[in-house]
Amino acid sequence: MLKDKKIVLGITGGIAAYKAVEIASRLRQAGAEVHVIMTKEAREFVTELTFREISGNPVASDMWTPVTQWNVAHIALARLADLMLVAPATANIISKAALGIADDMLTTTLLATKAPLFFAPAMNNNMYENPVTQQRIAELRERGCHIIEPASGHLACNVNAVGRLPEPETIVAAIDQFFQGAEMLRGKKVLVTAAGTLEPIDPVRFIGNRSSGRMGYAIAEEAQQRGAEVVLISGPSALKPPSGLQRLVRVETTAQMREAVLSEFPDSDIIIKAAAVADYRPKVVAANKIKKNNAELVLELEKNPDILLELGKLKKSEQILVGFAAETQNLLEYAKTKLEKKNLDFIVANDITKPDAGFNTETNLIKILSRDGRIEEFPLLSKHKLAAIILDRIMMLRQ
Ligand code: PMT
Repeated sequence: MLKDKKIVLGITGGIAAYKAVEIASRLRQAGAEVHVIMTKEAREFVTELTFREISGNPVASDMWTPVTQWNVAHIALARLADLMLVAPATANIISKAALGIADDMLTTTLLATKAPLFFAPAMNNNMYENPVTQQRIAELRERGCHIIEPASGHLACNVNAVGRLPEPETIVAAIDQFFQGAEMLRGKKVLVTAAGTLEPIDPVRFIGNRSSGRMGYAIAEEAQQRGAEVVLISGPSALKPPSGLQRLVRVETTAQMREAVLSEFPDSDIIIKAAAVADYRPKVVAANKIKKNNAELVLELEKNPDILLELGKLKKSEQILVGFAAETQNLLEYAKTKLEKKNLDFIVANDITKPDAGFNTETNLIKILSRDGRIEEFPLLSKHKLAAIILDRIMMLRQ
């Protein structure tokens, strides 16, 4: 997948800069055209000459030295890149990139490019774990950048901890996989539902749930990055929608979500229902604010349609239908019943009782139940990582 791809490799000033030599070499051997940008600090660790020889291209580092091959070097490199990789990425470059600071060749190119951005953080473990660094990494992720997580092991500061640059082959494999993934869903329409629906009681109150939309938005973003045309149908959410969506349809109630889903469903190839849908709604919605008095207030609820159940009945053999099951007890039993009853290709069973899992968290704890009885169990992982796993499983069904 790397053949003829134009990769701009940014190198920053960390001890792991020496490993970037092998990254550049492996990329080139795999057929990629490699263009290196070094920061001033990176040049303290490795020389420009090394990268010129390894990449076969001039190295850009100084904004003010004329580079013969390009007009305005940072703009030319930003335009030319199919992908930009910063490895090693220091805490400094991560924060600068997150904030949009552009004060050298690398940061200006990062700001000017529209290519997918990969960062491979490598630094002292305390620096990596510092909430400031973690916050900036989260911001980069939110904007669609890819973070190649650092490995654990011996660090230059003589401790065994997280912060090592992963091996060059791991980094190159991640880039290769990205290009593979980017092709795999090309031309496919992926319909994702996210966040919770809410049901009005009166003009000011509603019945709702705690879904933030994080899980569904992460799936939509991952599908979009794999080349799909993504339609995201979202209940109320404070999240910024992923960029590059085909369409974002905002809804509030289950009835609105049902209407939107049914209209997008017929030409969808893959449907993933991560939304937490209200099963019941008030039978009567008061026209005016319900006034408090001394009596108890009883709300009569009526059943909402089960959208996923309907989709399971409408589903054509070439469509892939994936549901979620958020449970507080009997996780596997309830998820299995939903898998069968709703005619799904697989179901994501979500244990919402564990800390940092389920609603409104960055991480989640899931098991995937397939129709053939297989159950795959995953540790607590970020919702982004789980989104990638869910899409990998969908792609396996297509093979
Ligand atoms: O948004 P986050 O804060 O990141 O939280 C993520 C999540 C916990 C909401 C998500 O991971 C999750 O588990 N979503 C499904 C929640 C849910 O409502 O599960 P359920 O077991 O009640 O529903 C089963 C499936 O049927 C779901 O795919 C649901 O979208 C669908 N459904 C349910 C009821 C209904 N009336 N219509 C439906 O389509």
